[in-house]
Amino acid sequence: MIFTVAIDGPAAAGKGTISRAVAGRFGFRHLDTGLLYRAVGVKGGDPARAARDLTPKDLDRDDLRTLEAGRAASQVAVLPEVRAALVAFQRRFARSEGGAVLDGRDIGTVICPEAEVKLYVTASPEVRAHRRWLEVGGDEARVLAEVKERDARDMGRADAPLRPAEDAVLIDTSAMGIDEAVAAAIAVVAARLAGT
Ligand code: CDP
Repeated sequence: MIFTVAIDGPAAAGKGTISRAVAGRFGFRHLDTGLLYRAVGVKGGDPARAARDLTPKDLDRDDLRTLEAGRAASQVAVLPEVRAALVAFQRRFARSEGGAVLDGRDIGTVICPEAEVKLYVTASPEVRAHRRWLEVGGDEARVLAEVKERDARDMGRADAPLRPAEDAVLIDTSAMGIDEAVAAAIAVVAARLAGT
């Protein structure tokens, strides 16, 4: 069975947790596409070359989840050559046999517009910054500034800007616990699988 769940949305909205839970529930494979951009961002040198030469080992680094790696990712993610180098791998993953969940910024709009389910997971910048701060610590005001800066860059870029696909289901997690958000996502996927 070919079945793609595209989960897009801004930083720290809950995409990762929801994606892993959906993949686990339905036995689908999961790709966190943000890791590809983070790996390119921290690799240094020419970003287009880094994207073309990316290997699974690059995704194994333990410094990919830091705020700095997130910022570096969103800086290289504006470059069309970087995005183009990562398209084929993501498309193959999305349409591989057995079902796939991909989370990122442009999965439902660019990578897999034919996805059977498209979710746009969001929350207010303050709520997202607070969640990210619980993970990374430090100065919460700085984390909020970082989140807003990254939103502006991701939504404002010319190539594959962050925006909901027209047919995406919106899940605003501002006032939801993670269990509730996961349940909402699973319900959408289950309904589509049941053909309703
Ligand atoms: O985990 P978080 O939501 O903070 O970020 P991420 O999903 O790891 O993505 C890091 C950065 O990579 C984003 O801010 C985007 O600039 C970029 N990205 C992208 O352009 N397209 C994707 N499909 C995924 C990430």
